[in-house]
Amino acid sequence: MKHVLILGGDGYLGWPTAMYFSNLGYQVTVVDNYFRRNACTELDTGMLYSVPTLIERAKIWHEQTGREIKVVIADLAQPEAMRRLFDGGVKYQWAVNEEFTGIPETVVHYAEQPSAPYSLMDYQHADITLVNNLRVTNNLLWAIRDYARDTHLIKLGTMGEYGTPNIDIEEGWLEVEHKGRKDTFLYPRQAGSLYHTTKVMDTDLMWFGVRMWDLKVTDLMQGPVYGIETEESAIDDRLKTIFNYDEIFGTIVNRFVTQAVVGYPLTVYGGGGQTRGYLNIRDTLQCVHVSEQNPAQKGELRIFNQIMETFSVNELAELTQKVGNRRGHQVEIKSIPNPRKEAEEHYYNPTYQGLQDIGVKPHYLTEEVMDRLFEVVEQYRENIRKDVIFKGIKW
Ligand SMILES: NC(=O)c1ccc[n+]([C@@H]2O[C@H](COP(=O)([O-])OP(=O)(O)OC[C@H]3O[C@@H](n4cnc5c(N)ncnc54)[C@H](O)[C@@H]3O)[C@@H](O)[C@H]2O)c1
Repeated sequence: MKHVLILGGDGYLGWPTAMYFSNLGYQVTVVDNYFRRNACTELDTGMLYSVPTLIERAKIWHEQTGREIKVVIADLAQPEAMRRLFDGGVKYQWAVNEEFTGIPETVVHYAEQPSAPYSLMDYQHADITLVNNLRVTNNLLWAIRDYARDTHLIKLGTMGEYGTPNIDIEEGWLEVEHKGRKDTFLYPRQAGSLYHTTKVMDTDLMWFGVRMWDLKVTDLMQGPVYGIETEESAIDDRLKTIFNYDEIFGTIVNRFVTQAVVGYPLTVYGGGGQTRGYLNIRDTLQCVHVSEQNPAQKGELRIFNQIMETFSVNELAELTQKVGNRRGHQVEIKSIPNPRKEAEEHYYNPTYQGLQDIGVKPHYLTEEVMDRLFEVVEQYRENIRKDVIFKGIKW
């Protein structure tokens, strides 16, 4: 049985990924320090429903499926905590079999502060974001360098690394011709927030590790993810992933659907022409899985653009309004002054064929898919707090 180590395994994407691999028969270890949950408490962001702790969820998973997800609660910004995952010194906070599982064939690295507004709230949150994200990635690269050079690292980056350039966005690399000579370089990056800037720096750190130490790395430039349900969460309601609907941690589709359900006008920032690539949470799991099955080679930094389709903010608002109104909500769309510094009309033409070429079958954001998201959110309508939806964090 192959061993997959998931860093950030308590998160929105980490927990569903852990169940997905466990269900396929992999040995799975998850690591988290509850950074995200603590930040939600600190900032009073609200959650659609409460979610058991990581240890409780691993126990529920075991009761329901007989499968084991080993749990480590540790801060991966601490180098020793990271290294213990590879040198055999790790202590599991929960496991059926407490013996060291061994060096993982694959590490999936989700363990970062993932919010752009959080990173721009003030100098303290900017500092936390930079220190946390860069230290975790650097610690991981050194642990792989020192103990696990054959391990394949799958790292979650973001499409936001590229910004909105006035030329087509390639999958990670760009061939440049200069004064009659050619070479291939990382595609130019120009992040729109400090969070996104840490992702650019992560990519640079990994490119260094690949060049110097022949590491095997896949960097997934992911777009904003939407959705709650995956096949595995259907096994028990308590296994559903965390779901935020506020401006800081709620991604746009999840947020718009929640706003529609409680009659909070959909907050379109400025002109609403901002266009990005999106994907269903089920497709995140597929993308990570096909990447695991088709690993990068030694000395390769392989980059995929992990999106399935593009929408402007206005298009998402209109789709939410259409589906919401059909379900009996009175959905209003309201343009508000843009708290962010970003282009509201721009060229956007990213390439994103690579993951589909190695086997991903996209789920698209159809009216039916959004309808089902409404259905789930409506079940928790009583929990939705209007006061946390919009705070207007300025860039
Ligand atoms: N959700 C999206 O739409 C999206 C889009 C693009 C990229 N991403 C990236 O995917 C990854 C996962 O995103 P997510 O939405 O699941 O975020 P998340 O915050 O839900 O998950 C990240 C997890 O990592 C943990 N973590 C953070 N710092 C840690 C540390 N020092 N030690 C141990 N654990 C730590 C957090 O507690 C959290 O549970 C992130 O790297 C994010 O930047 C997410």
